[in-house]
Amino acid sequence: MRIDILTIFPEMFDGILSASMLGRASANGILEFHAHNIRDYSLNKHHNTDDYPYGGGAGMVMLAQPIMDCIDAVTAMSEAKPRRIVMTPRGKTLTPELAMELAKEERLLILAGHYEGIDERVMELMDEEISIGDYVLTGGELPAMVLIDCVSRFIPGVLGSSESAEDESFSGSGLLEYPQYTRPAEYRGLAVPEVLLNGNHAEINKWRRKQALKKTFENRPDLLEKAELNDKDRAYLSELAENKRENE
Ligand code: ADE
Repeated sequence: MRIDILTIFPEMFDGILSASMLGRASANGILEFHAHNIRDYSLNKHHNTDDYPYGGGAGMVMLAQPIMDCIDAVTAMSEAKPRRIVMTPRGKTLTPELAMELAKEERLLILAGHYEGIDERVMELMDEEISIGDYVLTGGELPAMVLIDCVSRFIPGVLGSSESAEDESFSGSGLLEYPQYTRPAEYRGLAVPEVLLNGNHAEINKWRRKQALKKTFENRPDLLEKAELNDKDRAYLSELAENKRENE
């Protein structure tokens, strides 16, 4: 997949795209990243990328001209037509389903906005607006990185063969992940749960299921409504709810 990022801070992407899994995927040719500086496309004297909003109000608005020219130039850099995404808190929320769908594209073009917003005429050129959550960041760069990382995990070959994008929190069962431990079996007086040490896989799976239910019950009870639950799960959840009521 080819990913083009349009930003006024291309240097912010250097580290994230060259390290760890994304760096490896790009070295292996599975992913190709290009960060483009919108400022390079500004036709005004001072290479400005923003101006005051029509109608007044606080803050600045990103100019249509440099962004539109940058989109045109970048689109023409490769034959595949990119899916055009703009990161904005007013977009639809990023979900695993959306990330999986985007992972099937041959090419993404991601616009990271800044200031109070982007001239609305740019939005008409885009396919969709995406938000990473109901909070506002200082710019679209970190959200773009989050999107890229999240989408990349669903591209075959990006994760190692022993890892699976489906296996973790939010995929598959709809529950949060159970706790994990590694050696040593005891550290600073803290012991690994006995059940994990005895090699009884039926017992281990039962314990992990309960732990996943407990984590989800404590941290994200909203997820339980959509999770696939059996009678034993429901009985355990009732037990947890009962204990909670008693402790309140
Ligand atoms: N830009 C600023 N905040 C954002 C958010 N939550 N999601 C996407 N883009 C953003």
